[in-house]
Amino acid sequence: PDRYAVVGHPVAHSRSPWIHARFAQLTGEPIVYEAVLAPLDGFAQTLTQLRAQGLRGCNVTVPFKHEAAALAHERSPAVALAGAANTLSFDGERIVADNTDGAGLVADLTRNAGETLAGRDLLLIGAGGAAAGVLGPLLRERPRRLVVANRTVGRAQELVDRHAALAAAGGTELLACATDAARLASGFDLVINATSSSLAGATSPVDATVLRPEALVLDMMYGPAARAFLAWAERHGARTRDGLGMLVEQAAEAFARWRGVRPPTASVLAELRARLD
Ligand code: ATR
Repeated sequence: PDRYAVVGHPVAHSRSPWIHARFAQLTGEPIVYEAVLAPLDGFAQTLTQLRAQGLRGCNVTVPFKHEAAALAHERSPAVALAGAANTLSFDGERIVADNTDGAGLVADLTRNAGETLAGRDLLLIGAGGAAAGVLGPLLRERPRRLVVANRTVGRAQELVDRHAALAAAGGTELLACATDAARLASGFDLVINATSSSLAGATSPVDATVLRPEALVLDMMYGPAARAFLAWAERHGARTRDGLGMLVEQAAEAFARWRGVRPPTASVLAELRARLD
């Protein structure tokens, strides 16, 4: 079988080996997929070792996504915009980098949750690596308006500036602001939390006035890391969704890039949720 891995630090908690093993069973693709812990100062060396061992590619998780983009010989447009990569393919001596996080989020919202993004008003909370990875693919869906709100407004502005041309091409009004900005009170159809605010025990970085009736609120995390934020959204009457669907969909996008086959995801998501509950 062809070998793949997820490389991170920490990585023991990763669900990716289980997800890709299910994809392999369901598609009949002959692959094996392992978790590899890289030393914090040894990501490049770990990649060299994996290539020497004959691996065909790997996923990259915290905290190496930026380094993965920098090390690659070839970068997809998504990687160039995000400055971060989560999927590497080893092509002889060359490392080809892609980022499937945004495609995974869009696939989860549109296919699994049945949402339409075109023409809607979106709020993206956060301006770190997680937000950067999804902004481009969200803009490609041509929302009417997309506001990036961050505690540190300068980081949101930098992210927005980098995506200005893409937003203009799709006719989207793209704005940056602080999480306490008054302009957020006009409300949104879809609110995406790309911060780790729940981990800090905080309820929400933004006021409940961001929620329109029927708003969908998604946290890119899952399990305890999403709980406080989604509980806040539920208390205010929003529909909620955690990041487990995005996790499975970004994995499916990576699998498709490596193998040329997109695995079924709905059954894998249902099984994974049952395992975690
Ligand atoms: P990641 O790669 O997971 O996005 P990051 O680059 O460290 O990690 O970014 C973390 C994001 O969560 C940032 O948007 C951060 O806000 P700042 O840029 O102002 O630091 C946000 N964040 C983290 N903890 C937060 C909290 N308790 N309340 C609000 N925002 C928080």
